[in-house]
Amino acid sequence: MKTLNGKPSAGLHGTLVVPGDKSISHRGIMLGAISEGTTHLSHFLTSADCLSTLAAFQQLGVQIERDDQEVTIHGVGLHGLQASAQPLDMGNSGTTTRLISGLLAGRSFTSTLIGDASLSKRPMKRVSVPLGEMGAQIATTDGHLPMTITGSQLHSVTYQLQVASAQVKSALILAALQADQPSTFVEQLPTRDHTERMLTQFGGDITTATDGVTITVQPQPHLTGQTMTVPGDMSSAAFFMVAASLVPNSKITLKDVGLNKTRTGLLDILQRMGGKVTIDAEPTDGEPIGDLTIETADLHPITIGAAEIPAVIDELPLVALLAAKADGVSRITGAEELRVKETDRIAAIVQEFKKLGINIEELPDGFVIDGRTPWHVTDTQLGAHDDHRIGMVLGVAGLLVDQPLELAGADSVRISYPEFFDDLDTLLPKE
Ligand code: S3P
Repeated sequence: MKTLNGKPSAGLHGTLVVPGDKSISHRGIMLGAISEGTTHLSHFLTSADCLSTLAAFQQLGVQIERDDQEVTIHGVGLHGLQASAQPLDMGNSGTTTRLISGLLAGRSFTSTLIGDASLSKRPMKRVSVPLGEMGAQIATTDGHLPMTITGSQLHSVTYQLQVASAQVKSALILAALQADQPSTFVEQLPTRDHTERMLTQFGGDITTATDGVTITVQPQPHLTGQTMTVPGDMSSAAFFMVAASLVPNSKITLKDVGLNKTRTGLLDILQRMGGKVTIDAEPTDGEPIGDLTIETADLHPITIGAAEIPAVIDELPLVALLAAKADGVSRITGAEELRVKETDRIAAIVQEFKKLGINIEELPDGFVIDGRTPWHVTDTQLGAHDDHRIGMVLGVAGLLVDQPLELAGADSVRISYPEFFDDLDTLLPKE
């Protein structure tokens, strides 16, 4: 149980470097493993999810050394992974599970994937069905983990994705690398494109058509290990962006945050709501990064539909919090994917926000929030629902109420941001 202390005596101030990007850290390990030569990752995210990926590839015979946020991967080449005698434990990580499925689908051995209680409830047919079409044999447990993958020589496909999911897209790209002919995938909406960018950097041949949703992957590339610094995670920075926007008299700077357009939905939304953000972009060869300075602002309501969701998918709990302090009614729809994240995030947000007296109405695919209703705490016992992002959004909400609150399951932050509460403390006024 963690006590949230309530309104700070003054605004948030200071400068923070947020941990490395979770999506890029996972992909750095995976692409490093299937490349030839050595890959060095700096500012690697040392959270539970990324450590699940690291351990899984060690189990598949890849030598990986880690010294805090520095990781060295001795690549084994596209065909060098070896069967693991034990099941591969995906922990809580959907990204590890979906992406590794695509890689293992083309290997000539059988692998079993297991995960924790939350991950074992999440849908896996979204990867097992298309990978099956490419020739792999995948047995799920009623569409869930445990899942057994018997890989084989894959054939190319043209496949229309059924959900807007970068995890599914990436699984298919990693499978397509091992296919006999080029494959084409068509997304419903553009989703985060880290796999495409990083694969190009490692020497792969992947193109996205001008429509932004048609992706063609050339098979059997010769991938070469790379040296890269992982940008700060926009999805982690987002908690402080929202905290500084909402806690009166705040001004903070977040350094070297990833600004990939497929991830900056919250930045756009916050600015449209009237947020005060200054962006100081830095020139780079790879993923765009920059420093963000955020000040407290009066916010206006917003309407968000399906087309905007992928670029803000992990930040929607924070959009709900912004809406709960805006001067009108906000409407977020087209976000039914939130129901199959680490928890049902729509249900969790509605349940926990109601304890704070927030005027929120649940929709099948989102929520309606009237920020004009004053908050009034009716229950001080909050729960993280075993979900890191629910835990962190409630940590920020706790800065906006008069009395202390108790948060059960706060250690869920280990999944993406183990130092979250310590970093938040560094921005709070020193009493
Ligand atoms: C991720 C993609 C997103 C996101 C997740 C990480 C990735 O999931 O929610 O935290 O690294 O590809 P979906 O693409 O399944 O929505």
